[in-house]
Amino acid sequence: MKLITCVIRPERLSEVKTALFRAGVTGITISRVSGHGGERELVEIYRASSVVLEFREKIKIEMACSEPYVQPTIDAILASARTGGVGDGKIFVQPIEQVVRIRTGERDNAALTPVTADEVQRRALEHAVA
Ligand SMILES: Nc1ncnc2c1ncn2[C@@H]1O[C@H](COP(=O)(O)OP(=O)(O)OP(=O)(O)O)[C@@H](O)[C@H]1O
Ligand SMILES: [Mg+2]
Repeated sequence: MKLITCVIRPERLSEVKTALFRAGVTGITISRVSGHGGERELVEIYRASSVVLEFREKIKIEMACSEPYVQPTIDAILASARTGGVGDGKIFVQPIEQVVRIRTGERDNAALTPVTADEVQRRALEHAVA
């Protein structure tokens, strides 16, 4: 299991979301963030020390994926987020120690497996009968 975090341009969000859903990603967290990459022109001397004066609006996307989904997710981000210009963003991949689905207590890959609406209904009925 990996946590894939990417920072992208806000104007690519719609394309990236579509590409991710096509790649089979279901669990996803999206945040608006401010960031700075390697833009030297935004760093100026202020009171004798270098400070970053400007941040850019970016979108951060986080997805916990089981192993078979890791490379397809990265490929989907590359294909949909790239414009070729500086500031296209970055992808970070980190190992995950544990995932727990709060509703059921399921762990790890079982907790990452998407649950369809039908399954939720069936489990709710089972729960009601028990
Ligand atoms: N090393 C990093 N750590 C954390 N966030 C980063 C890092 N590098 C980039 N980011 C995030 O990604 C955003 C976009 O970065 P950006 O694409 O400008 O990276 P870059 O290394 O400057 O590449 P490029 O030369 O293509 O612009 C930044 O605004 C920041 O939010
Ligand atoms: Mg940059």
